[in-house]
Amino acid sequence: MMHKLLVFRRESQFTQKAANASELKKRQEVIYAFRRIHKAVRCTHDPLELLFIADFALSSTTKGVIVECGAFKGGSTSKLSILSRLLNKELHVFDSFEGLSEPSAAEKEDAGFTGVAQTWQGGQFAGSLAEVSNNVKKYGFIDKTVFHKGYFKETMPTETPGQIAFAFVDCDLVSPAQDCVRHIWPKLQPGGRLFFHDVIFRKFSEGITDFAFWQTHLKEPPPVLWGAGYGCGDMAPNVGFFEKY
Ligand SMILES: C[S@@+](CC[C@H](N)C(=O)[O-])C[C@H]1O[C@@H](n2cnc3c(N)ncnc32)[C@H](O)[C@@H]1O
Repeated sequence: MMHKLLVFRRESQFTQKAANASELKKRQEVIYAFRRIHKAVRCTHDPLELLFIADFALSSTTKGVIVECGAFKGGSTSKLSILSRLLNKELHVFDSFEGLSEPSAAEKEDAGFTGVAQTWQGGQFAGSLAEVSNNVKKYGFIDKTVFHKGYFKETMPTETPGQIAFAFVDCDLVSPAQDCVRHIWPKLQPGGRLFFHDVIFRKFSEGITDFAFWQTHLKEPPPVLWGAGYGCGDMAPNVGFFEKY
């Protein structure tokens, strides 16, 4: 459980980064909207993790849309949709809307260096398209949100947008995350970031940085995974990212 004082301190730092009055207004709006969403919608991310991503997004001038892979009930989706409005970018949301795909025997269990361990099951974390879109309508901004229903390996090869500014992948399992990397990385614009939840898990971090996977599908060595094993500080303890130079 995150300490209230820590949340307050990190939120204050988030607003202090504003360069001018209109930027300050935007950042305050993000904090209020994110607090409201986190209270109203069941989320699997920590309260400040999307604020960590928002901090990057609001300081970035990278062109392209926002992509989310893994929506659950639409808590992270609603937060990203607020950013889509403030940044005037489309938000593309990919999900089966039927929960996790069936994990392979190797994917069923994962554990991290911080003592965290998890077992995954097919169908876990299901949120229907109606649930997610209703939450976005109620708590976020639906006008620029585009939904792509289906397993990543079926939708992403043909439906991934051509220019991506940043993406948030939160699908727990290695092979779906690799599907996301294969299709997002080539479209990620210079200066963009590909964020992941779950980098505290060892198999997950190893899987998305696997040398043979990168050589085969992306014809380049894997980039640095910032946050591998330990996350990105107390604001984003489960989050890591690749940065495109
Ligand atoms: C942990 S939940 C996402 C949590 C959400 N981002 C949040 O912060 O509340 C994982 C999501 O990934 C989706 N998912 C997992 N494997 C998938 C696959 N192979 N194709 C499409 N969606 C998948 C599930 O349906 C689920 O919505």
